[in-house]
Amino acid sequence: MNRVCEVLGIEKPVIQGPMAWISTAPLVAAVSNAGGLGVLGVGFAPEPFIMDQIAKTRELTDKPFGMNCIMIPDNLEHVTGIITAAKPPVVYADTIDGLDPALCKKYFDIWHEAGCKIIVKASHIADAKVAADAGCDVMIVKGWEGGGHVTFEATTVLVPQAVDLLDMPVVASGGLADGRGIAAAIAMGADGFEMGTAFMAACANMVHPNVKQAVIDAGDMSTVITGYSTDEPCRQIKNKLANELIAIEANHTKAEAAELLRPVAESSLKKAMMEGDMEDGAVMAGQITALIKEERPAAVIIDAAIAEAKEILAKMPAFEF
Ligand SMILES: Cc1cc2nc3c(=O)[nH]c(=O)nc-3n(C[C@H](O)[C@H](O)[C@H](O)COP(=O)(O)O)c2cc1C
Repeated sequence: MNRVCEVLGIEKPVIQGPMAWISTAPLVAAVSNAGGLGVLGVGFAPEPFIMDQIAKTRELTDKPFGMNCIMIPDNLEHVTGIITAAKPPVVYADTIDGLDPALCKKYFDIWHEAGCKIIVKASHIADAKVAADAGCDVMIVKGWEGGGHVTFEATTVLVPQAVDLLDMPVVASGGLADGRGIAAAIAMGADGFEMGTAFMAACANMVHPNVKQAVIDAGDMSTVITGYSTDEPCRQIKNKLANELIAIEANHTKAEAAELLRPVAESSLKKAMMEGDMEDGAVMAGQITALIKEERPAAVIIDAAIAEAKEILAKMPAFEF
């Protein structure tokens, strides 16, 4: 049996990457009901919202789903209170940069005691190793092709390293949206596949229609990384806001730029995702947006990608070197 499916108790090794303001209960349940793992994008959300989203997800599906949390030391006590009370089937921990081994061990043990499986998403190998040693159950490595917060390593570079180093299920993330990406990830040794941007155009999500259209219209060279100079790199679709952020970074010291960017970062994602503001909102999305051409149900996104991957893999023995 596929190792990701076995550990997480799901039918298909496809994980929907958590996305703030996008992966709320309807999308999460649609993905989990389709056999993958839906994950609530509630990393920075207040407690009542998280509890409400977990309850709503449970109303919509009896399958496993995940709850996103962010591995920031100041956040962990608060989020652990929610985890031990609500007991989501899976805790999905996103890492910013530089995990503390002792903190990981302490909180992973508590989350395991609450009956949760633990997925960690790492953007570089050192963090993946720390989280694996601390006992997480599934490792996602995310390349910088992906949407949202990234580092500087590509998926094709991270996945083989993680597979060589770690004795656990490894999930490839960043730049996957169809069967070609999945087949490539399998060739690199991945056990599972995470997609975020692909689910931005899923029928079930509540994101503003302007955002879905922007994802469908975007091509190659449509995304850009802001926050290089402030150590908070974030991939988003180019627009007025992204240009302004890049100009701020170019014209200020690192400390000044960080100060100026912080308030923008806090409000701009919601502005795009909920209000549909395509000029002053942050339209986070990955490079793979270029391959997303239509709005589809979550189940179709998953099943079409798996069917295409199977077709590609069946043809591989005929490849001539
Ligand atoms: C709009 C958007 C919002 C995101 N928000 C979060 C988040 O809140 N927490 C998180 O762990 N990852 C977040 N991500 C990253 C995704 O979970 C996932 O790792 C990434 O989208 C995978 O790469 P892909 O976009 O190429 O599929 C976000 C991505 C996007 C596109």
